[in-house]
Amino acid sequence: MSLHVETDLAHIQDFASQADKHGSSHFPIYNTATFDLKKQSGNEVYDYTRSGNPTREVLENLFTHVEHGAGCVCTHTGIAAVGLLFETVLKAGSHVLVEADCYGGTFRLLKIFEDKYNVTVHFKNFLHVDELEEVLQNHPIDLILCESPTNPGLKIIDLEAVGKLSKKYDSLFAVDNSLATFISQRPLDLGADFSLFSTTKYISGHGSVIAGAIVSKTKELAKEIGFYANAHGRSQNPMDVFLISLGIPTLKIRMREHEKNALVIAKFLEKQSYISRVNFPALTSHSQYELAKKQMDFIPGLFSADFVSIELAEKFIQKTKIFGEKCSFGSPDSRIEIPAKISHATFSKAELEAIGILESTVRFSIGLENVEDLIEDIQQALSV
Ligand SMILES: Cc1ncc(COP(=O)(O)O)c(C=O)c1O
Repeated sequence: MSLHVETDLAHIQDFASQADKHGSSHFPIYNTATFDLKKQSGNEVYDYTRSGNPTREVLENLFTHVEHGAGCVCTHTGIAAVGLLFETVLKAGSHVLVEADCYGGTFRLLKIFEDKYNVTVHFKNFLHVDELEEVLQNHPIDLILCESPTNPGLKIIDLEAVGKLSKKYDSLFAVDNSLATFISQRPLDLGADFSLFSTTKYISGHGSVIAGAIVSKTKELAKEIGFYANAHGRSQNPMDVFLISLGIPTLKIRMREHEKNALVIAKFLEKQSYISRVNFPALTSHSQYELAKKQMDFIPGLFSADFVSIELAEKFIQKTKIFGEKCSFGSPDSRIEIPAKISHATFSKAELEAIGILESTVRFSIGLENVEDLIEDIQQALSV
């Protein structure tokens, strides 16, 4: 029987490879480095937690199922999932095609691969499919990588169109699904070979742990990823798996509330004279509103707003009481930050401008508070 995703999430313990003999309603935490090979009776055999652990497997089985993949590795951070992808599919001399509006940590990692491993990175605007095709025609691209929505530019990439290009030119295609999450969009159904994500964000949902995962489309790719995860020691520890699992059953209702609150605040900000632009795909004013609605079931509660001056943006950050000045997103508490100073500090001014980020752009991650309290906080912060 095929169940809706929220039913699967509510029954996360059913994704254990072996049923718990006590019938516990949450799966056990096997916090152990090693397993005794002589004492195992189930179908699965474990020897060492770096290569396999029954607790981690619950999350890996669940993510494989909900992302419609063939295998998953849970990693100790989200950026470790990105690194694991690079370690698996790139070699010296490889070419990578990347959406220029990518997470700052991914950008930094790509620069390292360029400098140390002679990898060529082609940063492009993925809204211009003709430019992507030109790169693919002229270079042997091993990997295409993008986020959608992008962070912090909030572009919506047409994943199906990029997926088709990747097949035409025989390149692997990976999507960072950290923002939308599998509750909203399934990149593997749209032509991607990998869906990877930071579970630190909406999936765990409580800002209490750092972790990530990478789901592969085929068993062969999953095996390769598993091999490098073990070789490089990328796998997630069982205690963190437990912490991540606590947020999972409520993912859908949280995403709905994040989107609802964010829409009220974005509409409010759109009317204010101190804001020159609000960039949120759930607003009809967003140039890709239609694609956003088609590609995602929920639009994540993250948007950016350009203040008319840097001084006002900074005053706003300092004076708000409920909004914390924090990076990251997807937590119950609302957060604001200036990407040029924090999450995207590794980008030069020109690189930021190329993706539409100004020094006065503030990124909002809207939480689960009462929305009227948030609006009141915004109003008091900017009153004279
Ligand atoms: C889109 C995206 N991918 C990956 C990461 C890295 O995740 P982590 O911080 O869990 O290492 C982040 C972190 O902010 C992110 O925003």
